[in-house]
Amino acid sequence: LPQTFSAKFDQYLRLGCLILSALLLLITLVVMGCVRSSWVTGETFSPAQPVQFSHRHHAGQLEIDCRYCHVSVETSDKAGLPSTQTCMTCHSELYTDAEILKPIRESWANDRPVRWTRVLELPDFVYFSHQVHVKNGVACTECHGRVDRMPLTSQSERYTMGWCLECHREPSGRLRPAEQVFEPQWEPPHKQRDRIAEHLMTKYQISLTRLTECTSCHR
Ligand code: HEC
Ligand code: HEC
Ligand code: HEC
Ligand code: HEC
Ligand code: HEC
Repeated sequence: LPQTFSAKFDQYLRLGCLILSALLLLITLVVMGCVRSSWVTGETFSPAQPVQFSHRHHAGQLEIDCRYCHVSVETSDKAGLPSTQTCMTCHSELYTDAEILKPIRESWANDRPVRWTRVLELPDFVYFSHQVHVKNGVACTECHGRVDRMPLTSQSERYTMGWCLECHREPSGRLRPAEQVFEPQWEPPHKQRDRIAEHLMTKYQISLTRLTECTSCHR
């Protein structure tokens, strides 16, 4: 049988294939990296807002309760964003000339709501309720991180299905006594950690089967 390719050509061909597959692998890795990166998932990204509102200042330093501004968090699916009136309770007296608060004053004068840009949003096919979580001892911090330390609001987690399920499979140890749900800095007393976790699972009557059913979140 006559040799179709010279030995040299065969070597080049092998080398070429090797380089090509190495390149493909590299491209795949880069693409995967991008998809998972915080840039795509929105993690630690703060969108532009009409007013540079600081949680660090208001919820952290001034210690204003989350419920003062997110009024429906205990009673409905949505936490709700504050109305201009809520800001004006203080800012009709405080910082009244500040340039940074001009959009708030204009909104108040023209009776037009401020359009805050949402920081995090689930897809429409997912059902989520704040009320259910808050009533069962899941703290804001579990899902939103230390908002009280954020000068500009950013997403603290990637809200994937896997992330929701991680807690739904094993919520023990991630629940708090009712009076601590809104306290950003609370930690369980170290020595009683396990006992408290067990006690809270019984107290809130957490039903594990319901939590992992598809229809709980996809209705
Ligand atoms: C309970 C009172 C209170 C409420 C309600 C309130 N603020 Fe403030 N805000 C303050 C105080 C006090 C300061 C000044 C703090 C300082 O400079 O030490 C301030 C400062 C600010 C500043 C200046 C920049 C900064 O953070 O230091 C902005 C902007 C601001 N607030 C926006 C808002 C917006 C928007 C709302 C409504 C969503 C709001 N505030 C609601 C008390 C309040
Ligand atoms: C003084 C009013 C005020 C208080 C107190 C406050 N917030 Fe907010 N919050 C706002 C405003 C205004 C926005 C919209 C602008 C922004 O995203 O920064 C917001 C946005 C948010 C968002 C982003 C929601 C989204 O998808 O856009 C989260 C999460 C949040 N707040 C959690 C909290 C938590 C947790 C606390 C208590 C530790 C808290 N907030 C206390 C006024 C407040
Ligand atoms: C179990 C996780 C979880 C807990 C606990 C939680 N949140 Fe949220 N929060 C979310 C998710 C997920 C969204 C996005 C919901 C959507 O897009 O429908 C959200 C959205 C928000 C928003 C946007 C506006 C809105 O009307 O929903 C605010 C404000 C907010 N949360 C504040 C809070 C505060 C304050 C607390 C504590 C009292 C809290 N959240 C507790 C997961 C949580
Ligand atoms: C840190 C723990 C935790 C995280 C994170 C969490 N959940 Fe939950 N979830 C709970 C607990 C606890 C309950 C209440 C269980 C009960 O009532 O038995 C609950 C209840 C629910 C329910 C009501 C289920 C029913 O009984 O019908 C829905 C819907 C839900 N969660 C959706 C979500 C979604 C969507 C996410 C992610 C964006 C999420 N949860 C993240 C702990 C968590
Ligand atoms: C605790 C809440 C929760 C439960 C339970 C749950 N999901 Fe999801 N699911 C989500 C969230 C949140 C998303 C959107 C975020 C994402 O794509 O990861 C999602 C996304 C999806 C998607 C779209 C995926 C994509 O890549 O776009 C499918 C399909 C899905 N879920 C199927 C299921 C099935 C089947 C079950 C039951 C075995 C189930 N889910 C149980 C919360 C849940």
